[in-house]
Amino acid sequence: MSWHRILLDSPLAPGEKVPTRIEDREILICRIEDDYFALASRCTHSAWPLAEEVIEGTEIVCSLHGARFDIRDGCPTGGPARKPLATYPIEIREGELYVSI
Ligand code: FES
Repeated sequence: MSWHRILLDSPLAPGEKVPTRIEDREILICRIEDDYFALASRCTHSAWPLAEEVIEGTEIVCSLHGARFDIRDGCPTGGPARKPLATYPIEIREGELYVSI
């Protein structure tokens, strides 16, 4: 595993997310209250991209068939998805976000 610095155009507000790519992986960076999370950005049901989808509380909702995932651990919480989204360690160092893949 190696750490990668994430460059944001602007700071994320609580409830916001931003897609990024690290090496060959599409990753979604999400902020829930004061915590940040890094998740795979494709729904595990049929690979729908989640980058434009809605965050409701601590969940992201896939609009294609209604799967819901807990952003904090990637686990499905509703809908047809059975597999969790991959999650990645994320840290803040001196105000910069770093993700390990
Ligand atoms: S692709 Fe996301 S619920 Fe089917």
